[in-house]
Amino acid sequence: MKTYKIALLPGDGIGRDVTDAAWAVLGKASRSGDFALAGTSYPWSCDYYLQHGTMMPADGIDTLKSFDAVLLGAVGWPAQVPDSVSLHGLLLPIRKAFVQYANIRPHRLLPGVPGPLKANGFDILCIRENTEGEYSGAGGRVHQGADNEVAVETSIFTRKGVERILRFGFEQARARRGKLASVTKSNAQKYSMVFWDEITRTLASEYPDVEVTSYHIDAMAARMVMAPESLDVLVASNLFGDIITDLGAAIQGGLGFAASANINPERSAPSMFEPVHGSAPDIAHLGIANPIAAIWSGAMMLDHLGEKTAANNVMAAIEATTARGIGAIPGKDKTEAITTAVLSALG
Ligand code: NAD
Ligand code: IPM
Ligand code: MN
Repeated sequence: MKTYKIALLPGDGIGRDVTDAAWAVLGKASRSGDFALAGTSYPWSCDYYLQHGTMMPADGIDTLKSFDAVLLGAVGWPAQVPDSVSLHGLLLPIRKAFVQYANIRPHRLLPGVPGPLKANGFDILCIRENTEGEYSGAGGRVHQGADNEVAVETSIFTRKGVERILRFGFEQARARRGKLASVTKSNAQKYSMVFWDEITRTLASEYPDVEVTSYHIDAMAARMVMAPESLDVLVASNLFGDIITDLGAAIQGGLGFAASANINPERSAPSMFEPVHGSAPDIAHLGIANPIAAIWSGAMMLDHLGEKTAANNVMAAIEATTARGIGAIPGKDKTEAITTAVLSALG
């Protein structure tokens, strides 16, 4: 029997509750499949930072290397640790070090979930560039505190980085409804986004079967609300992809529904699976976090590991649960009740 080694990083706040929920569901899914999941949990988090002065040990990345995948909850506890410290100390370095350049975020309405727009048939796939662009961490501040202070944050876009994420987007569009929306802001940003548009046009000739359209990020935000049925696969830079995926989450009914996979397509390092949402300090400890995004992310992990049947079973169990109205309305059901319902739907 095949055993997959999974590193669990529950992190902070509701990250812990939803990771527990996802792990319970994945455990049950593996027992009815013919594989096993061996989990090792690491307490790397803001609590860990307060005790040790770092978000993870110096050899943290090395430790994770030997796993088949990483399942993460959420990172961040801004009341005690600045976000710029916690996220740059744990989540973002993993995405970069493991070259998880394709962040896949599916947004669709689950059965029984009304969603704010009543957007019947809402079903898009966002592909977010995950290792460079606006998140490159290049820049600095001079004359700190003075009237003439300047802060610079440089976005770095490489041909290799842009080409590979666009290619990934074209492939996804080909496997779905054949439509790719490339999202930029090339009317205002004249270097990086013009570069991105040029590469999009060049690659388009290799994918004549994919209908590709370039949109500006502002117009895309409006289109996602006004005409979401006109969209299929969206590909965007790191920051733009971050923003439109919280919008996608909202349209699908709330942040508790949005799953994500940080994929290293070449499989040269582990991929990482985590909900789109954060640690939700406002509802942490209340037991009302929706675990569906984390469970769905777990299904994406099974799919990535090659356990397609188990992945489909988990998705079917999520859908059976929301179809019964359980977990469909944010805040109405407890985390535990939703998890129990998914577990029992799993049979
Ligand atoms: P957030 O996603 O944590 O919360 C935004 C809103 O959505 C809150 O009102 C919250 O209660 C609600 N929400 C989020 N997940 C939910 C769920 N599963 N069920 C029900 N409601 C849910 O965003 P934020 O408040 O901007 O960030 C809080 C912290 O999390 C910050 O430290 C931030 O940097 C961090 N963060 C981490 C990640 C990550 O680890 N991937 C992602 C986003 C934010
Ligand atoms: C996400 C989060 C992170 C991001 C933050 C917490 C750094 O918002 O995964 O969407 O912007 O990538
Ligand atoms: Mn985000």
